[in-house]
Amino acid sequence: MRAAGDDSVTPPRRIVLDTDLGMGHPGTEIDDGLALALALADPGIRLELVTTVVGNADVDTCTRLSRQLLARLGRTDVPVVGGAAAPLRGGVGGREDGYRAPYAAPALVEHVRRSPGEITVVAIGPLTNVALALLLEPALARDVREIVVMGGVYLGHTHLAAMPGEHNIWCDPDAAAVVLGSGAPLRLVGLDITKQVRLSRDDATALAASGGDFGRFAGECTSAWIDAHGAALPGDPGEQDSCALHDALAVAAVTHPDLVTWTPAFVAVETAGRVARGVMVADLLRSADPPRPNCEIGTAVRADAVTALFLERISSL
Ligand code: RIB
Ligand code: CA
Repeated sequence: MRAAGDDSVTPPRRIVLDTDLGMGHPGTEIDDGLALALALADPGIRLELVTTVVGNADVDTCTRLSRQLLARLGRTDVPVVGGAAAPLRGGVGGREDGYRAPYAAPALVEHVRRSPGEITVVAIGPLTNVALALLLEPALARDVREIVVMGGVYLGHTHLAAMPGEHNIWCDPDAAAVVLGSGAPLRLVGLDITKQVRLSRDDATALAASGGDFGRFAGECTSAWIDAHGAALPGDPGEQDSCALHDALAVAAVTHPDLVTWTPAFVAVETAGRVARGVMVADLLRSADPPRPNCEIGTAVRADAVTALFLERISSL
């Protein structure tokens, strides 16, 4: 039997990456950039479109940095389309110099419509663009191959009162509710497992010394992010000497689903929370009369194998 993602057997998985890429913006999460690099480095993936959303940075910054990173990786052929500047509810994002059409949501709809059953959407930022696309065209839920989401925390919470739910869902819980209710095939990787997949300071140093332009940039950004994130969470010893590869796990899960244990669940999200904004509640279907599952969630991960896969793939860039 051959491994999932073995490009000698299966055609590459065609993906759209929906991202709030902030790698290169001082003090900002770097994992979207590492996820994008992994998508390009994985021979089992064909990255066809990048769409951007407000999250780690404002959407125009995410769009600019996505283009810069693709240029650094020699892949300016991959189109980048900017998307939502604000969540569905509760904020209107500003833009200094006018419109930025085309927009991510219609671009997503159009891309999936042209190849029904073929396109996987990997959503690694707030779900605003994906929700808007589903609201524009509900048939997207039928025609998409699957949606793989980095988002949520299912078996606990963050223990941060200001953000008890995971960041992507917390940014736009209404969008998450639209996606969960859409009927699209959904797999979600949440903090329960993404926090286990880590890059250490030694990994960062090795990346920086790896010779290539991207390796140097990625290594420097990783060291800077470990410093910044550790300083922001001084009471969390687990965040002082390494950082999580949250978004890269969502990309790895496309071609290597075997690295994660998947559990069918009915997931609901708190949209009106006073203290629980963006918290996901996962029913694991253990009752005599369980609800219909609306997704699969990752409940365990072979974390070291994911990091090893990541480093091995990235070294080819
Ligand atoms: O909670 C982790 C998620 O939010 C990731 O997508 C990361 O980029 C962050 O900002
Ligand atoms: Ca992200």
